[in-house]
Amino acid sequence: MSTLLQVNDLKVAYGGIHAVKGINLEVKQGELVALIGANGAGKTTTLKTLMGMVKPAGGDILFDGQSTSKLAPHEYVSNGLVMVPEGRGIFSRLTVEENLQMGAYSRNDKAEIAHDLERVYYLFPRLKERQKQLAGTLSGGEQQMVAIGRAMLSRPKLLLLDEPSMGLAPIIVQKIFEIIKMIAAEGVTMLLVEQNAKLALQTANRGYVMESGRITYSDDAAALLANEKVQQAYLGE
Ligand SMILES: Nc1ncnc2c1ncn2[C@@H]1O[C@H](COP(=O)(O)OP(=O)(O)O)[C@@H](O)[C@H]1O
Ligand SMILES: [Mg+2]
Repeated sequence: MSTLLQVNDLKVAYGGIHAVKGINLEVKQGELVALIGANGAGKTTTLKTLMGMVKPAGGDILFDGQSTSKLAPHEYVSNGLVMVPEGRGIFSRLTVEENLQMGAYSRNDKAEIAHDLERVYYLFPRLKERQKQLAGTLSGGEQQMVAIGRAMLSRPKLLLLDEPSMGLAPIIVQKIFEIIKMIAAEGVTMLLVEQNAKLALQTANRGYVMESGRITYSDDAAALLANEKVQQAYLGE
């Protein structure tokens, strides 16, 4: 498997606050990698830095073999780096379908976009039933589906998911994770940030544990699930 994302000694600071203190991380083509850790560990900062929304204080990021440091903001998505942000970031006054179409704004292959839209509706039949509904009137789980569907319409090479389970009822969380597995099975590479560590590691191939800006464990997801220290700190066992 070739390496799609390579992060070397990445450091990020907000003024005097060192949020990310020199992390190394990689995601190979086709992998589903979980990044877990407590609130404030630096997970969102890491994802935002991968998307160019926060500038690193040190280290480098290689995506598809190329440094991302020279990319203009709009080039991230057109290069295949796509994020579903914490809190979803959907447009509440637009319809479901308009929100999904926003994901394809940098594309002009109309027939392919129509095909991808059908694929999203196949993955999310609930959204097909609600195509014309204003996104702001959807339930939290449905809004998360819109956010993931919109990202799919950008044709991601690497999909970054920030806390997709946040604020959702357990049964809806299960549903969202089933969809994440289906997307992974279609060959989309993903980096999944979650506070629901157990579910994330049960879903992922590999995982990283982040604590106070550092990676403290990295291993196959099954090995992390079996690791006593990880169990005590993150799995409630
Ligand atoms: N915009 C910001 N300005 C200043 N500090 C920030 C900002 N965003 C995050 N932080 C701080 O950086 C650290 C990591 O935050 P974050 O990346 O959001 O963690 P996580 O996603 O793991 O909960 C925290 O101490 C947080 O308070
Ligand atoms: Mg976060």
